[in-house]
Amino acid sequence: MGLCDGQIGYALVPMIARGIMLGTDQPVILHMLDIPPAAEALNGVKMELVDAAFPLLKGVVATTDAVEACTGVNVAVMVGGFPRKEGMERKDVMSKNVSIYKSQASALEKHAAANCKVLVVANPANTNALILKEFAPSIPEKNITCLTRLDHNRALGQISEKLNVQVSDVKNVIIWGNHSSTQYPDVTHATVTTPAGEKRVPELVNDDEWLKSGFISTVQQRGAAIIKARKLSSALSAASSACDHIRDWVCGTPEGTWVSMGVYSDGSYNVPAGLIYSFPVTCRNGEWTIVQGLSIDEFSRKKLDLTAEELTEEKALAYSCLT
Ligand code: LMR
Repeated sequence: MGLCDGQIGYALVPMIARGIMLGTDQPVILHMLDIPPAAEALNGVKMELVDAAFPLLKGVVATTDAVEACTGVNVAVMVGGFPRKEGMERKDVMSKNVSIYKSQASALEKHAAANCKVLVVANPANTNALILKEFAPSIPEKNITCLTRLDHNRALGQISEKLNVQVSDVKNVIIWGNHSSTQYPDVTHATVTTPAGEKRVPELVNDDEWLKSGFISTVQQRGAAIIKARKLSSALSAASSACDHIRDWVCGTPEGTWVSMGVYSDGSYNVPAGLIYSFPVTCRNGEWTIVQGLSIDEFSRKKLDLTAEELTEEKALAYSCLT
């Protein structure tokens, strides 16, 4: 499974080989793809995977040929792309990446296993996923998603630090929209498990000003903050969140818990249909379903619409890059 490149790929492959993505009883065969100048380094990663003697790892394909990489894969994690550097907005990387996704779409469509699940991580993740969907029309739209679990996990981390509670006791935050600085991290429906039962996050935090500004901007800007600090974009947290995304999609979300996934909009919550937009979802039997019926107040409505507008613009820009 998988397509891989650079930092995220290097963090991701040992997690997959250890069973963090698909479970500790699921053997895996890794397919890793990189560009020809990186072929020797990719072979070095293959050597390391052999040296680590992972009991679950039943084979490694390291290749610079997209057809070989895609052949027979059940799960494709698309981390390859031109990375964002300090000072760049996601739109800047758009033209470089949409053409990559167009060509990878056709390799996946023709050669991946039927029902292959696709997770796009490389930015602009939502729009890359949309391009992939449009240029791989025979892959069911439900099988093409993008990563906003990283933002979801960042939101859990911020709430856990603010309230000084275990991150595993916080649940049901939501990331709406784009994996960009217009995303809307929403804690309206989030809860914390306490000895006295489930408590609502807004009541526990009791600081509307922080929830409506500092919290939101910290999560929105976290990717940029990591780039500034590391001089490289996030890798271990992106890889770990990619494992969370696929594991919950394949194995199911715990009862009473939802997660955020970038999925093809059906118009739920009045989000324009035909965008890849992050929604709260639950997963059962390998299928995600958008959580319905959550109340959306006026503040949230504006935020949902703003990030949808950005995605609509990105979609138009992506198409203009392709023509
Ligand atoms: C992240 O969120 O850390 C990555 O998507 C990198 C970026 O460009 O923000």
